[in-house]
Amino acid sequence: MTETTTEVRAAVRKRFGMIAAAPNDERKFPIGPDSAKALGYDAAEIDALPPSVTESFVGVTNVLSLGEILACQTVVDLGCGAGLDCLLAARRVGPSGKVIGVDMTTEMIEKARRSARELEISNVNWLLSEIEDLMLADAIADVVISNGVFNLCPDKPRALTETYRVLRPGGRLQMADVFLDENARPEDVALMGDWCE
Ligand SMILES: C[S@@+](CC[C@H](N)C(=O)[O-])C[C@H]1O[C@@H](n2cnc3c(N)ncnc32)[C@H](O)[C@@H]1O
Repeated sequence: MTETTTEVRAAVRKRFGMIAAAPNDERKFPIGPDSAKALGYDAAEIDALPPSVTESFVGVTNVLSLGEILACQTVVDLGCGAGLDCLLAARRVGPSGKVIGVDMTTEMIEKARRSARELEISNVNWLLSEIEDLMLADAIADVVISNGVFNLCPDKPRALTETYRVLRPGGRLQMADVFLDENARPEDVALMGDWCE
């Protein structure tokens, strides 16, 4: 692992650890229940969730709207954060289905685990892991979801290889992310500052 990779991962963990602990301090990303509603999540569904689930939501679209999640399916959420998508997916797959939420930031996984307990949702397993190195068997997922995560991964080809390894043949990837416009000028990028400031 290069120095840069180590530094990026440390910066990501620090940033999202803070977003888990003190979401109201976030000034750069759209965050929380209002952002979720603006992105197309069902307002009544969001309002019915406790703040612990919604306040640290930092997704970039409603990934669950990109395809139908069915009863009995297995869903893997790569970079699940505080678990909003996982917990909504857990209700859709029902008691015979399963969701696995993966995140490398301890504070996020702990927050998600507490919320699941509070909501008495027991069909989600939480995995503290980098998505480039998943401790999951091959072909276990009917659907992989990922919301605003790959842009933060230093090794995107490896993250994608792992994604397709855990996805069953014929399974579906529902992901959304932010990316740098190829026409963006370096001076404009510099003006936007660093994502981890
Ligand atoms: C922008 S947040 C999105 C969280 C969640 N998907 C949501 O919609 O609220 C990015 C999340 O990805 C996690 N993350 C970033 N890089 C990761 C990696 N390489 N492996 C695992 N998790 C990662 C961060 O810890 C953070 O919780």
